[in-house]
Amino acid sequence: MKIHEAVALIQRGEVVAFPTETVYGLGADAHNPEAIQKIFKVKGRPADNPLIIHLANLQEVAEFALEVPKPARQLMEKCWPGPLTLIFKKKPGVPDTATAGLPTVALRIPDHPVALELLRQTGPLAAPSANRSGSPSPTKAEHVRRDFGDDFPVLDGGMSNIGLESTVLDVSETPFTILRPGKYTAGQLSEICGENIVRIPKTSGKPRSPGIQYTHYKPRASVKWYDSTVSDIDKSRTLLITHTRNPDNFPHHIHMNGDYEKFARELYDLFRTADYQSLSLILIEHLPEHPIHPLLEALQNRIDKAAVQEP
Ligand code: TXA
Ligand code: MG
Repeated sequence: MKIHEAVALIQRGEVVAFPTETVYGLGADAHNPEAIQKIFKVKGRPADNPLIIHLANLQEVAEFALEVPKPARQLMEKCWPGPLTLIFKKKPGVPDTATAGLPTVALRIPDHPVALELLRQTGPLAAPSANRSGSPSPTKAEHVRRDFGDDFPVLDGGMSNIGLESTVLDVSETPFTILRPGKYTAGQLSEICGENIVRIPKTSGKPRSPGIQYTHYKPRASVKWYDSTVSDIDKSRTLLITHTRNPDNFPHHIHMNGDYEKFARELYDLFRTADYQSLSLILIEHLPEHPIHPLLEALQNRIDKAAVQEP
């Protein structure tokens, strides 16, 4: 579909999927609670999981954020447009449907020409990833159509360049806290804004980011780390993903050759392709323990979540 058609749908209070540099988003007018409600309905998303509001420029931040701490402004200026979502105290009047009733709001300017053109014409869009709740985020228009049907309105902007969702950083209180790891690491963000940045503790009581409690990023095939505890493998129904090793006899084998950007870009597409081919197992070689690449923490996080065994 064309941008002007997407703009018309959004203005009529409908939802439209659009490309970003991280993953595809499912957008609705951020000022229209009924339109936002449709996102939850289409995705099957629990109402207590808030959405990110996507903006075209820094001026629009003032419509949603109650205050912008100085170090957060530095992050906005250096990292936007880009794969960083910032959580602010929200202004009264921001629809509760978008923020799931929280006193905070998540904002980001995506770094994708099609998204930016759309946002310039529609104004701010509330948008989660454009997948059905529980399945991996889409990195291609085709993934969105697989989840929602061939007639679903999608702006095709090619394959998402990063392939993993944005880093989510809570700047509504100090210390600034990473709620979801992404391409921007704590070290890089701290360097940019001069603030101490902490990671959310693994075992905290009430989740600070409601999304964290839900099963995410999961293909139908079971995902396992490739080590000696995995036995009885039916290789014909297994996808093996490695980055250093090159084992024989796996008919479905992808070797990333230490290219972690490619690994991140292609991970969800590989998850989905395994499902489309009805494979039953995805084995992934353990990642290096030392953060020799900025994307490793995010990759580890997404694969760990996909590898969680349901009770
Ligand atoms: O890269 C991305 O962030 C993509 C693209 C489309 O922008 N979007 C995305 O949205 O991943 P979603 O809805 O799938 O993930 C948003 C995450 C969820 O874990 C949600 O709980 C959290 O951000 N979040 C949103 N608003 C929040 C808030 N006010 N406080 C804490 N966490 C929040
Ligand atoms: Mg999502």
